[in-house]
Amino acid sequence: MICAANWKLNKSPREAEAFLRDLRRNLSIDHHQEVIIFPSAICLMLTGEVLEGTDIGWGAQNCYFEKSGAFTGENSPEVLRELGATHCLVGHSERRSLFHETNSDCAKKVAAIQGAGMVPMLCVGETLEQREKGQTNSVIVQQLREGLQHVHLEKEFWLAYEPVWAIGTGKVATPAQANEAHLVLRNELTAVFGASKARTVPILYGGSVKPENAHELAQQPELDGFLIGGASLQLESLLKIHSEANR
Ligand code: PGA
Repeated sequence: MICAANWKLNKSPREAEAFLRDLRRNLSIDHHQEVIIFPSAICLMLTGEVLEGTDIGWGAQNCYFEKSGAFTGENSPEVLRELGATHCLVGHSERRSLFHETNSDCAKKVAAIQGAGMVPMLCVGETLEQREKGQTNSVIVQQLREGLQHVHLEKEFWLAYEPVWAIGTGKVATPAQANEAHLVLRNELTAVFGASKARTVPILYGGSVKPENAHELAQQPELDGFLIGGASLQLESLLKIHSEANR
């Protein structure tokens, strides 16, 4: 199981460095288990330095889709790649709702990230209102389909299912709800990539993952890992989730 830590706008460079040094000392990974840290952009360089020579992966929470130019405040996939980032999140629900990111923006970012030699992790998920209206499947399929509009089919692609109502709320999807949504997404991946490639695309679940619920969720056949927000900010709980997910 992949454990990806989405730190959002948390941890100063000093705090990030101390955490990563502790993580390095305390984590043992075999090759079936992956830990990937997504720190804020300002902490990316030091993350690369501290994690150099380890199996611990790291990536960016966001990027722009252009290589360079007059785009004040943005970072390009090429710049992130040059720092050593291997992955980049796309379309996290906070980016969609707070920063007005559209499916079409996501599609351009997915292609740009792949073009720069990194792996995009597209995030999709329904709001509570959409779930209550029975629109979950249509919403997440549309986000995925439109987000894949310019995808390079031969390149690596990761996906995260994050129901908006479960993010940072303490409300977690039941294992059955998560697995059902992942199955819907897997079928759509099959339509786009073909069955054999679709099977290899990791689909991570995110939304209030904690040490207490990680093991049960991890038992679901369609879950390949977790995207962890709040519970990834303390080393102890991240390590516990990692061990629960892989036991
Ligand atoms: P959470 O966040 O674990 O704090 O719910 C998950 C995410 O937003 O990626």
